[in-house]
Amino acid sequence: MSAKKVFIKTFGCQMNVYDSERILESLSSLGFEETSQISCADLVVLNTCNIREKAAEKVYSELGRIRRMCEDSAHRDQKKTVVVAGCVAQAESYEIINRASVVDIIVGPQSYHMLPEMIKDTERHGHKLIDVNFNHQQKFNTLPQRNTKNNRATAFLTVQEGCDKCCTFCVVPYTRGAEYSRPVEQILNEAIALISRGAFEITLLGQNVNAYRGKGPDGRMWSLSKLINTLSELDGIKRLRYTTSHPCDIDEELIECHNYNSKLMPHLHLPFQAGSNRILAAMNRKHTSEEYLRIVDSIRLTKADIALSTDIIVGFPGETVAEFDKTLRVVEEVGFAQAFSFKYSPRPGTPAAAIKNHISEAEKASRLNALQSLIKEQQLRFNISCINKTLPVLFDRHGRNSGQLLGRSPYLQPVHAIIPYKMLGQIVPVKIISAKTNSLFGILQGSQL
Ligand code: SAH
Ligand code: F3S
Repeated sequence: MSAKKVFIKTFGCQMNVYDSERILESLSSLGFEETSQISCADLVVLNTCNIREKAAEKVYSELGRIRRMCEDSAHRDQKKTVVVAGCVAQAESYEIINRASVVDIIVGPQSYHMLPEMIKDTERHGHKLIDVNFNHQQKFNTLPQRNTKNNRATAFLTVQEGCDKCCTFCVVPYTRGAEYSRPVEQILNEAIALISRGAFEITLLGQNVNAYRGKGPDGRMWSLSKLINTLSELDGIKRLRYTTSHPCDIDEELIECHNYNSKLMPHLHLPFQAGSNRILAAMNRKHTSEEYLRIVDSIRLTKADIALSTDIIVGFPGETVAEFDKTLRVVEEVGFAQAFSFKYSPRPGTPAAAIKNHISEAEKASRLNALQSLIKEQQLRFNISCINKTLPVLFDRHGRNSGQLLGRSPYLQPVHAIIPYKMLGQIVPVKIISAKTNSLFGILQGSQL
């Protein structure tokens, strides 16, 4: 009998990419193998994102497509079990069941370890099942050890989940729950398993990763920098990264770590969201723009060549043009290597959604445009500053054009190079010869040629 097939589609952030991998691993205990073709799948999992309205709406259109496919005569004899996982599942479980009859199982981000049992139950009894309980500890304790077949050089590893910051625009505290840090030993074991499968660059993930305070083997609470220093001593580890950080949780120790730990890559993703202090207070960000700029100064004083990236929201309710201008000023002052910018999207149940004086879509679009042209300029400037430099690039995938590989510089820039395929999965010196807004192009350097 051929193996049962699972198709999984992942929306949203890196943590969802990590979660999807772990879901696939846990389903292998039921004999499921991954397929990239939804039409052949016995089980379809949508791992969803609820951060902005557009992301959530995508899920419903995908479910419509799946329903039409299931009704299509060609597929009618093959019953598909349909699972909605992730943050939309958590936030809108009953709405999904009511709106999309094709869905069998709803599973929130803290209940993935329950999925194999839920699938067995649904297959046996045809029940529709919902599990949106919060239990980080049980999830991480119950999920099977890493057995991924994906032996890429780069891997994600969730060390912290959830957020206590409660920015007024954000659904994460409701969908991912309160902050939880995994114990150090569990993380070390997972890192060792990933290394044994070929990974040597690990990105530590958390919604608020620098708030990490996990129980160490010595019984004390370890900080992120202590965790990073210990991970960097594991045999086989060459590069470490972490994301996403909150400005209020940056401490001296972490900044120093960038200075002396050569395996920690010179890149920091540090969202600032808005330039006006009134808007920052309304967002409940707990920092002013001056404090943000001071943190940036002190990081650059310690590690001059660090690449900074950020997240910015335009058109928060009540934001005036003058206040938006302050966002542009902060961007100008910092000079980012990269930035993600978004139009404010009201999320049901969040405090900001109830604020009056929402900004029109047209105004938000025009502010986003202005901000993105400034960001593009800065990205291009940063990328051009790398021309003629030789950077160690980790090539971990094939490029779009034949004969090319695609990798990442220490600063996280995508680097294309014409390079022998045998160098896939290696860190090699590359001389950068040209730059675009979103990527670099280079040639192999020295004896590697
Ligand atoms: N620290 C988090 C970031 C949350 S979401 C993490 O890594 O998981 C990523 C970004 O989406 C935020 O930094 C913010 O800029 C943006 N965002 C969150 N809620 C939003 C909303 N309601 N509208 C528009 N953008 C939003
Ligand atoms: Fe969201 Fe703010 Fe936390 S953006 S994830 S509530 S730090």
